[in-house]
Amino acid sequence: MSPSRMLKLCILMACFILEASAAGNFYRDVKINFGYGRAKIDKSGQLLSLSLDKLSGSGFESKYEYIFGRFDMQIRLVPGNSAGTVTTFFLSSHGERHDEIDFEFLGNASGQPYTLHTNVYAQGNGNREQQFRLWFDPTAAFHTYSIVWNPRRIM
Ligand SMILES: *[C@@H]1O[C@H](CO)[C@@H](O)[C@H](O)[C@H]1NC(C)=O
Repeated sequence: MSPSRMLKLCILMACFILEASAAGNFYRDVKINFGYGRAKIDKSGQLLSLSLDKLSGSGFESKYEYIFGRFDMQIRLVPGNSAGTVTTFFLSSHGERHDEIDFEFLGNASGQPYTLHTNVYAQGNGNREQQFRLWFDPTAAFHTYSIVWNPRRIM
């Protein structure tokens, strides 16, 4: 990944709720970019919820671009039948030969496990997919999922 590229943080889809850290404020830091009405920020600016209906999902993106950082997402995934839904958070630059770091939760039928799917693109080239089966129920409680991106590695 070219270190001169700046990435934006985006979150899309399914039904989940996010809480801002004490210093954060969703009104100031993000814009809703998809599914207006299904994405809501509470009065305090500390809680953002995304939902999914029969038509579509919802999402938001950061107003700022970043070069290196640690991104912690507290997410509780939609329970029950989530087959066909994808809840994703990713960092992405603009343009054809873009850079991207992906975290995707692939929904499943009731009682069946989610798959966590990750990928990294550098200058438009992906092919670094990895799939994980989580060892806990991601719908039962909030869990913190992190991307650590520094000059030496992406974790
Ligand atoms: C759904 O669960 C089945 C059974 O455990 C598994 O084989 C399949 O890979 C899962 N699908 C996804 C998208 O995680």
